[in-house]
Parts: sequence; C-alpha cells; structure tokens
Amino acid sequence: MFTRDGVTLRPLEPSDVATMYAWHLDFELDILSSWGSRRSWAQYEKRWEAKMFEPDEDMLYFGILYGDKLVGRAQLALIDREQRRASVGIVIGDRRVWGKGVGRRALQMLYDYAFTVENLERLYAEVYGFNTRSLRMMPRTGMQPEGILRGHELHNGARQDVHVFGLLRDEFYRDYETMFKLPER
Ligand SMILES: CC(C)(COP(=O)(O)OP(=O)(O)OC[C@H]1O[C@@H](n2cnc3c(N)ncnc32)[C@H](O)[C@@H]1OP(=O)(O)O)[C@@H](O)C(=O)NCCC(=O)NCCS
Repeated sequence: MFTRDGVTLRPLEPSDVATMYAWHLDFELDILSSWGSRRSWAQYEKRWEAKMFEPDEDMLYFGILYGDKLVGRAQLALIDREQRRASVGIVIGDRRVWGKGVGRRALQMLYDYAFTVENLERLYAEVYGFNTRSLRMMPRTGMQPEGILRGHELHNGARQDVHVFGLLRDEFYRDYETMFKLPER
C-alpha cells in the first residue's frame, strides 16, 4: 500500500467487489474503458474473487483510494517480463471525484511501481478516440502519443479508432521522483 498527495494504491480486497459492481452497472463508464459482457452479481463476484485469490501472472490490480474511500481501480495487464513491458488501465468509478487529479496521480504511482518495483521498461495504454477525458489525461501523466490505429476495434456497434500512448522508464524518471527509494546506507 502506498500513498502520495491523498491518493493511495493498495491491493484489491473481496470487500471491494460490491463497490466495483456498482461501477460495472454504470454503462457509460464501461463503454469508455471497454464493452465487457453484462454480468450478474453472482458471476461478477465469482470472477473477481478468482482474480484476487488466483491471479493471472501477467496481471496486477490495485484499488485506488482517495482519502480512505475506494474510488477506482488501476491495473498492469499483459505484463511481459522478458520484454519488460505492460499495458496500463484505469477506471475512476466514483464520478464525484472526476477532474480532481486522482486519475493522473494514481497512474503516475502505478508507473512508478511498474518501473521501480517491477523493473519494467515500457508501459503503454490504448484509448478509444471518443474518450476525450482519457485522451487529455494520458499526456498529463507523461505518456507520449504514439499513433492511431484507425477503426481498430468494433465497439458499441461501430468501428472505433484506438489511440496508442507509451512511456519509457528513462522518460518517466526525468520528470518524476520515485517514491520507492531505498534508505541511504
Ligand atoms: C479517464 C479517467 C480515469 C480520468 O480520471 P480523473 O480523475 O477525472 O482525471 P484527472 O482529474 O486526473 O484529470 C487528468 C487530466 O484530464 C483532463 N481533464 C480533467 N477533467 C476534464 C474534463 N472535464 N474534460 C476534459 N479533460 C479533463 C485534464 O487535462 C486533467 O489534467 P489536469 O487537471 O491535471 O490538468 C476517468 O474519467 C474515468 O475513470 N473514466 C472512465 C473510464 C476510462 O475512461 N478509463 C480510461 C480508459 S483508457
């Protein structure tokens, strides 16, 4: 668990699943990040408990707290330890805290964890062309725009552009001081 500027990342707990299910039922939120299958509470709970108790080796999930309240989650996905890269994802499910810098700060902490603790060297994100908020947030976290995959995905009944963003470890440390420094000897 680590905190900076009022935002905390910590492992997800089974008691978080009910809060996350409320976000899952928010269709607009889901359309912005991915258009997953609609799941019943029972299916959703079972799926997330499996992710928590028997996690895939290429995934790492974090709950995002603002103060002491769970407001979102972030993940490293497709973690490739040989290539030292992973994709990042985020959802701030509690819309009341949108626009307060929580998403940006949570992602920067996730990048710091990925580069410093997990020893990765490249992170990337894919954002739908209609997700204007995320398209503006990604560069604010340090991510560089790398290109547009035109009509790359069939999503919500139409082909959608996917904007690719990437960040290399050296670029990140140029602008951000790690919070995982070892004590001086
Ligand atoms: C995208 C999302 C994570 C942003 O979270 P957030 O906490 O609102 O973002 P922040 O407050 O940190 O804002 C980050 C940047 O986005 C931009 N932004 C903030 N509010 C905005 C608004 N109303 N309109 C457009 N851009 C905005 C700003 O550039 C801001 O940077 P700054 O305020 O530091 O200058 C959140 O809206 C969300 O969960 N959306 C649904 C799921 C999703 O889209 N996930 C991302 C999939 S790639």
